[in-house]
Amino acid sequence: MSKIKILIADDIEETRNVIKKILSLDSDHFQVVGEACNGEEVLNVIPKVNPDVVLMDINMPILNGLEATERITSEFPKVIVIIMSVQAESEYLKKAMFYGAKEYIIKPFNFDALVSTIKNTYDKYNEKLAKQVVNEEPSYDGKIMTFYSSKGGVGKSVLAVNTAIVLSKEATKKTLLLDLDLQFGDISMLVNQYNKKTILDIVEDAQLNTYENIKPYLYSYNENLDIVFAPRKPESAEYIGKDSVEKIVKILKKHYEVIIIDTGVNFNDSTLHVLDLSHTILFISTMEIVALKNTKLGFGVMQSLGYEKNKVKLIINRFNQNYGISKAEVETAFKDNILAMIPEDDKTVCMSVNKGQPFCDSTKYYKDKVGKAIQVMCKELVK
Ligand SMILES: Nc1ncnc2c1ncn2[C@@H]1O[C@H](COP(=O)(O)OP(=O)(O)OP(=O)(O)O)[C@@H](O)[C@H]1O
Ligand SMILES: [Mg+2]
Repeated sequence: MSKIKILIADDIEETRNVIKKILSLDSDHFQVVGEACNGEEVLNVIPKVNPDVVLMDINMPILNGLEATERITSEFPKVIVIIMSVQAESEYLKKAMFYGAKEYIIKPFNFDALVSTIKNTYDKYNEKLAKQVVNEEPSYDGKIMTFYSSKGGVGKSVLAVNTAIVLSKEATKKTLLLDLDLQFGDISMLVNQYNKKTILDIVEDAQLNTYENIKPYLYSYNENLDIVFAPRKPESAEYIGKDSVEKIVKILKKHYEVIIIDTGVNFNDSTLHVLDLSHTILFISTMEIVALKNTKLGFGVMQSLGYEKNKVKLIINRFNQNYGISKAEVETAFKDNILAMIPEDDKTVCMSVNKGQPFCDSTKYYKDKVGKAIQVMCKELVK
């Protein structure tokens, strides 16, 4: 179970230290993520440490606890405020609750009182949230289409981005592009967006129970297309477990008609999970004999995983008649599993990658043979 993240707001340092000490006695359940000595500081610290609960002294300088509570409730509605007060004056406390506090506790308090107040309030509030999840309008059952290959560098990411764009714009499908190449994901580079939030931020900061919680971490590429970027550093991949990926995909499926997933070449638990969930696996290969051989082996693995024949489709990328293997030979080897042959077009693709401007976003993209081929493929995909 994840720990309850707590921010302590009290102008007296000694009080903050006492509370920290009490909470450290139950470090399995609580984590103090920050401190503040006035209401204004609380508001500045919240976005940095994302607390679940703010323990708020009612009387503080600069901005008092009541006003701070009111602002937290409107600016950070997911944060639970518990008021601490020495005055057992019911008027004060009534006001605090009116301003949006979820609970109060009278100082001085002991270990049991503090721990049970936080736990009970947190549980009660989360139960309410869980009910809201159930009530969230069950809009879509998004089709998951996963780009996969058994050899790196064959064009998964380029095709995933451009496919997502065509589906979102031309087929006007509400589309999500999820970069699950957790180590070396480069979708952010392909759309020229750096320093945006990534899946690591979702896993570290967001409660994975509602779309509302995940939404702030999505990058809105166009009206119909949102993107979840991969972490910026390869070492972050280990913090994103299969369970988190599972929860994220489950929530997103309800809010998008299509979910395009880009994967890396390493076959980890998360990849296996999304392959299982996929409606279609778009297996990418080039015309090189090594890539084709590995693709054939990959198809075998998919079959042994029990996937239906129709679920796995081959896309030949960088198709070129002059590379010593003919279209007919590929067709003989893969038969009706071939979905598309995307031509090689170094100039268009390379320029688009280097500029961070997907070629399918150009208004005349269907005039480029590679853009046209993706357009035709997308029509097949939404049939
Ligand atoms: N149809 C194409 N014509 C010409 N060049 C292409 C084409 N498709 C992809 N490329 C080139 O291949 C490079 C690799 O593509 P991409 O990054 O999409 O591969 P990948 O399979 O995602 O690689 P990785 O396994 O490393 O994630 C691109 O930078 C692009 O320059
Ligand atoms: Mg890639």
